[in-house]
Parts: sequence; C-alpha cells; structure tokens
Amino acid sequence: MSIITIASSKGGPGKTTVTMILALMLTERKVPFALIDADPTLALSDWARDKCEPEIPCIIATKEDAMVDAAFAQDAKGLVVLIDTAGFDNPTTRGAITIASHVLVPVGVGASDIMQAEATARNIALFGKQQRRPIDAKALLNKQTRTRASQFVFDEAHKLSISPLSATFGQRIAYPEISLTGVLPGPGAAKEEIDAVYDELAGLGWFKIEEDE
Ligand SMILES: Nc1ncnc2c1ncn2[C@@H]1O[C@H](COP(=O)(O)OP(=O)(O)OP(=O)(O)O)[C@@H](O)[C@H]1O
Ligand SMILES: [Mg+2]
Repeated sequence: MSIITIASSKGGPGKTTVTMILALMLTERKVPFALIDADPTLALSDWARDKCEPEIPCIIATKEDAMVDAAFAQDAKGLVVLIDTAGFDNPTTRGAITIASHVLVPVGVGASDIMQAEATARNIALFGKQQRRPIDAKALLNKQTRTRASQFVFDEAHKLSISPLSATFGQRIAYPEISLTGVLPGPGAAKEEIDAVYDELAGLGWFKIEEDE
C-alpha cells in the first residue's frame, strides 16, 4: 500500500507542481497510480483533465470523508495514490496526512519556508502519535538557486525534524511549463532533477505496490 500525501502548511512551495511531476513520472515508468485532488482550488484536477493528453483521471475529493473513502478505495485496488492538498491547514489536509504511508513536504526558498516546514513536520509527528504509528515523511527542497537565501534554506532544512531528500528541484522555467503543457520536460537539467527525485523516492520504497494476488 502506498498513499503519498503532498502537503505543506504554507501556500505555494510547489505541492501541485510536485504532484504533477510524480503523476507524469509514474505514467512514464508504467506504475499504476490514482490521483486525488483534495485542494478546493482544483488546480491539479483541472490540469489532469485539460492539459494532459491523454487525460489523467483525477478524483476530486475536497471534503475529508470523501477524500478518505477515495484514497482507501484506490489503495485497495493496489494503486499508488497521490493526494495533492490545500495550501492551508484544514481537516481534509489533516486527514490526508493521517492516512498517508508517506508525506512529501515541498519547501520553497523564502524567509518563512523553514518555519512552515517545521510546523508541517510537527503536525505529521502529532497525527502519527495519535495513530500510534510513525508517519514517514521527507522534505523536498524546491525552487533552489545559487543564492545565499537558498543556501540558508538548504542548511536549515537539514536541521528539520523530517529529513530532506538529497535530490532537489532548482528554480527553473521548465517546472511552471509542466502546468501548461501536461508533459515532462525533455532531456536537460530539469529532467535530470526529476529523475533523481523519482529514483530517490523509488529507492525509499514509496512507489511499492502490491503484486497481483
Ligand atoms: N522549481 C520551480 N521552479 C520555478 N517555478 C516553480 C517551481 N516549482 C513551482 N513553481 C511555480 O511556483 C508556483 C506555485 O507552485 P504550486 O502551485 O505547485 O505550489 P502549491 O504549493 O501547490 O501552491 P498552493 O499552496 O497555492 O496550492 C507556480 O506558479 C509554479 O509553477
Ligand atoms: Mg497547489
């Protein structure tokens, strides 16, 4: 079983972009998956329907009970389940973290990003405690540049209570483009970063699905 929730208590660090990238990578690698849009802005589901060719099925479930039912139903089919959540704390996001096998927390480059990532990490730990099981989580440094601000976020991220992936995403035009084109970037720096993030998560067992029974 693999329910992967992409979450952050801050708006805009790249949750939806990262979810799009994972969906396209799972498609490329032929790993069966389901997409759930739990964010009322519906950015992910609009993209999956309007930009992707062929369309990627995406379940809209912005209410907590519908989201939980959808995630468990897709998980029961042996699919990797990706859940994109809202950029603010709400019951649906809390629920999506609580039922997750893994939580991915994108961290942008901004003064408040580290604080917000730590707040998200504390929530993940709390929901795990309530369930008497640790919830596996990783931070993903996004929008990295060769600036002192990026270096600061990079250094501070390694002090977070959730560890960052070694692979990171740079600040690149190729990423916003994915939201317009519905396809992964061609060979180049962005695709190398995407492959590295995917391979690291795959190596951690995040995309493991049940074999046919
Ligand atoms: N690595 C990147 N390089 C450049 N732009 C990026 C990168 N990642 C995301 N963006 C852009 O940053 C903006 C916010 O990204 P995105 O919508 O994925 O964040 P989000 O966390 O889902 O936001 P929200 O909390 O509002 O749902 C978008 O315009 C997106 O295209
Ligand atoms: Mg979003």
